Amino acid sequence: MFTQTITAHPVSDFAADVRAGLTKPGQKELPSKYFYDEVGSALFEVITLLPAYDLSRADERLLRQHAEAMVRPLFPAPVVVAELGSGSGKKTRWILQALARCQRTTYYAIEISPAALSQCTKELGQLDRVSIVGVERAYLEGLASVAADRRPGECLLVLFLGSTIGNFDRPVAERFLADVRRALRPGDALLLGTDLEKPVAQLLPAYDDPLGVTSSFNLNLLARINRELGADFDLRAFDHLARYNVSERRIEMHLLSRCYQRVSIPGAGCVVFFSSGETIWTESSYKYRTTEVVQMALRAGFRPEAQWVDEKWPFAESLLIAE
Ligand SMILES: C[S@@+](CC[C@H](N)C(=O)[O-])C[C@H]1O[C@@H](n2cnc3c(N)ncnc32)[C@H](O)[C@@H]1O
Repeated sequence: MFTQTITAHPVSDFAADVRAGLTKPGQKELPSKYFYDEVGSALFEVITLLPAYDLSRADERLLRQHAEAMVRPLFPAPVVVAELGSGSGKKTRWILQALARCQRTTYYAIEISPAALSQCTKELGQLDRVSIVGVERAYLEGLASVAADRRPGECLLVLFLGSTIGNFDRPVAERFLADVRRALRPGDALLLGTDLEKPVAQLLPAYDDPLGVTSSFNLNLLARINRELGADFDLRAFDHLARYNVSERRIEMHLLSRCYQRVSIPGAGCVVFFSSGETIWTESSYKYRTTEVVQMALRAGFRPEAQWVDEKWPFAESLLIAE
């Protein structure tokens, strides 16, 4: 076991993105990637434990039950693993253990959240015959550096779990898969987790739990703007709102202003006005059909090798081989 962290210090775009998202005409928006500061990453871990949020458990059930079958098509080449947005890396242990039974393995956790990265290196740092390298970079930038550094003959297995791809609009998700493909060599693989369509009555409580953890996760975005950009958001003047958009087949999370209000954000150089009932759109979670994942993967340059589906909480794990 060996643990290392590569830290790049990219210029923070936080202030610029907050300003752009809150001052644009029409629907106000904030990018969901900013949820994951230290508090947000900790709250996300609690969300994954909530009874109503079976998504993470479904993902883990599939990885636990099928890890051997998921890595077998990649042998006998030595396999290097890179995970995009590893979070705490809890579920990844099944894949790493399946590989480590046959070979020494290096695992690169690519994360923008230093808190998640440190949790991940703690979580997986004790696995036998696995070396952990934390890469504090954005997805594609991190993947490019991992792909460039590997030795000839090594096969790269990219993990994109937890249906994080669902946070992208559908055309963006497809472009992202094509970008991942371009970073790979033929024979490399992508294991992609996607949450599937299910009845709204099953889905909505996962994003609006009675304990209010998801609400806190959402509101923490405003708290982060207060902390880091000196803003004066009154968190009690906003409500968490989760709704299913039937035509787009996505959950939308918003923060709804309870009254007319003025918020000053000195670090972003702006003052923002909210009318009563106006919302800030903070996250989308698109839901997929299994066939749609296959079609999207084919168009992005992958050959779908296998797909596993959890029946209790419809969720798919797709193994895609770079053509
Ligand atoms: C929804 S969580 C999923 C975590 C974990 N993969 C799981 O399945 O539980 C998304 C993770 O991706 C990270 N993340 C978000 N945007 C990112 C980006 N552009 N580049 C790298 N990591 C990112 C977040 O910090 C967060 O830990």
